Parts: sequence; structure tokens; C-alpha cells
Amino acid sequence: MIAIGSDHAGYEFKERIRKLLDDLGEKYIDFGAFSKESCDYPDIAKKVAESITKNEADKGILICGTGIGMSIAANRFNGIRAAVCVNEEMARVSRTHNDSNVLAIGERITPWIEVEKMVKSWLVSEFEGGRHSKRVKKLDL
Ligand code: RB5
Repeated sequence: MIAIGSDHAGYEFKERIRKLLDDLGEKYIDFGAFSKESCDYPDIAKKVAESITKNEADKGILICGTGIGMSIAANRFNGIRAAVCVNEEMARVSRTHNDSNVLAIGERITPWIEVEKMVKSWLVSEFEGGRHSKRVKKLDL
């Protein structure tokens, strides 16, 4: 299960990602925004982060204008490893090396064609473990 959310600045891409997830047969919970009306990214990031920490969702995707606010907000929650990525390679390695469980995207930064590749790659990439495991363990405070 994937938790997804955006603020108003990421709403358009969230809607496109919903369609992409439908096409890929992935199940998701949509935590809003539900329109382009202005809202605050920490409120949505909290809902997505908590759905992961409560094990309702395994992973999350958050979109705002830059991806930065969403990643900062989500990373306040213990156990969340949110990676703000701007291309497919970052999205892939955030899984294989960092075991990211949230992908943060900036709608005003990354073109949709790359975002589509990022989401697909992030979803299928697995954490490699090994030497990366001890580093990821050190992330939790
Ligand atoms: C909203 O204008 C914008 O500040 C927000 O979406 C995000 O980019 C914050 O990090």
C-alpha cells in the first residue's frame, strides 16, 4: 500500500501519479490535497508519514512545489526516510542504498516525463542491504 499526498503546488502531479499507480495496479491511499486550493505541506506530510509509521502503508509519495518542504516535514517522523529526488537515478539509488520509504517530488522542478520514470523506478527498486544496512540503522535517533 502506498500513501500519497501533495499540497496545492503538487496537486496536478499527484493526480497524474494516481493514474500511473492505477495503470500499474498499485493500491494507494490518497491523503489530499483534493483541489488546488492553498494548503500547508506539513499537514499532508504528517498524514502520509503517520500512515507509514502505523503500518497502514509501506511507502509514501509526497509532492509539493520543490519537494523540499515535504521531505523536511516527513523526515521529522522516526522511521521515515524521505528522499527528495529530481531524476530517475536519484530515485533508484534512494531505494537501493538509503532504503527510502518516501519519495518527495517537486512539481515546479522536475518535468512529468522524468517524474513518471522516477516513480516507476522507485517502486521496483529494492534495498540492497549489505554495507548499506549499518548506515541506514544509524539514521534512527
Ligand atoms: C508552495 O508555494 C510551496 O512553497 C510549497 O509547495 C513547497 O515548494 C515547499 O517546500
